[in-house]
Amino acid sequence: MPDVARPAPVRTRVTEMLGIDYPIIQAPMGWIARAQLASAVSNAGGLGIIETSSGQLDQVREEIRKMADLTDKPFGVNIAGLFVRDPSIADFVIAQGVKFVTTSAGDPNQYAPPLRAAGLTVFHVVPTLKTALKAIAAGVDGLVVEGGEGGGFKNPRDVATMVLLPLVASKVGVPIVAAGGIVDGRSMAAAFALGAEGVQMGTRMVSAAESPVHENWKNAIVAAAETDTVFLNRFSRPGLRAMRTERSERLEKDDHVPMSEMSRAMDLYFGGDMEASLALTGQVAGRIESVRPVKEIIEESIAEFHDICRSLSAFA
Ligand SMILES: Cc1cc2nc3c(=O)[nH]c(=O)nc-3n(C[C@H](O)[C@H](O)[C@H](O)COP(=O)(O)O)c2cc1C
Repeated sequence: MPDVARPAPVRTRVTEMLGIDYPIIQAPMGWIARAQLASAVSNAGGLGIIETSSGQLDQVREEIRKMADLTDKPFGVNIAGLFVRDPSIADFVIAQGVKFVTTSAGDPNQYAPPLRAAGLTVFHVVPTLKTALKAIAAGVDGLVVEGGEGGGFKNPRDVATMVLLPLVASKVGVPIVAAGGIVDGRSMAAAFALGAEGVQMGTRMVSAAESPVHENWKNAIVAAAETDTVFLNRFSRPGLRAMRTERSERLEKDDHVPMSEMSRAMDLYFGGDMEASLALTGQVAGRIESVRPVKEIIEESIAEFHDICRSLSAFA
């Protein structure tokens, strides 16, 4: 029996390449993007991604193994160059048998060629047109174009999705996944209008019911205004966007925020002490009004996407 309440699939090059019904990808996020969250996304018809940025490759291997128990749907893995401690990470990922990898925060020439040679599909995450063209030259299959309003580590010269996405889309032919500020069907439809064929949700997935983070972080996202994130290391590296707290507001004015400011991340992520570290969060927290199960987030986003596409067709 077909599930009558389920929205119709959205067919794009991204869904065809990844073998999924809905072009919604859950962002890779250190410690958070593990089997509990990623399997919920894949089971709902999107694409779950397992992180490696925690550097805990033994645990990551176990999370990838768990995925086989929790879903028979496709999922991917992310390699975030900035956090790679083990240079053989591409071999590690290939050995796990995954078919799709996003590479981010680094040189696309480092991991994309060996991964592609092993038959994997590789999308590289880019914050500028220059890096997009470099990734294309490295032979990637697609791009994740990430605007500076998104949560997490960022290029200090941040460019909003509204500007970056159509710019990159006008210069490349590969499929694009939009990231940064995507939270629902309306923002997804906007991303498609700007040239994307898929979207990636980070902050929305941190706030999801299946996200493993402490409820204090989820509640802070729900309570946040659109102005409640700060950009750190504007004139240094790595730039990052995090929830406004007493700690992050103080660090916002510092010339350089060392990574050691995040050394107690576990106390924040899972202990709920919002002042212990930095809660990587995007501006779109200001549009998130409740903690919802992943299936509802994805199905409501797709239903709204269809509605908005239909209503916009009145202008065709
Ligand atoms: C808590 C958190 C951790 C993140 N960690 C990673 C990571 O390990 N690798 C990566 O490529 N991007 C990472 N990002 C960026 C996301 O992949 C995504 O592109 C971004 O969150 C999109 O913007 P949004 O927050 O507005 O949805 C992280 C984002 C957040 C919020």
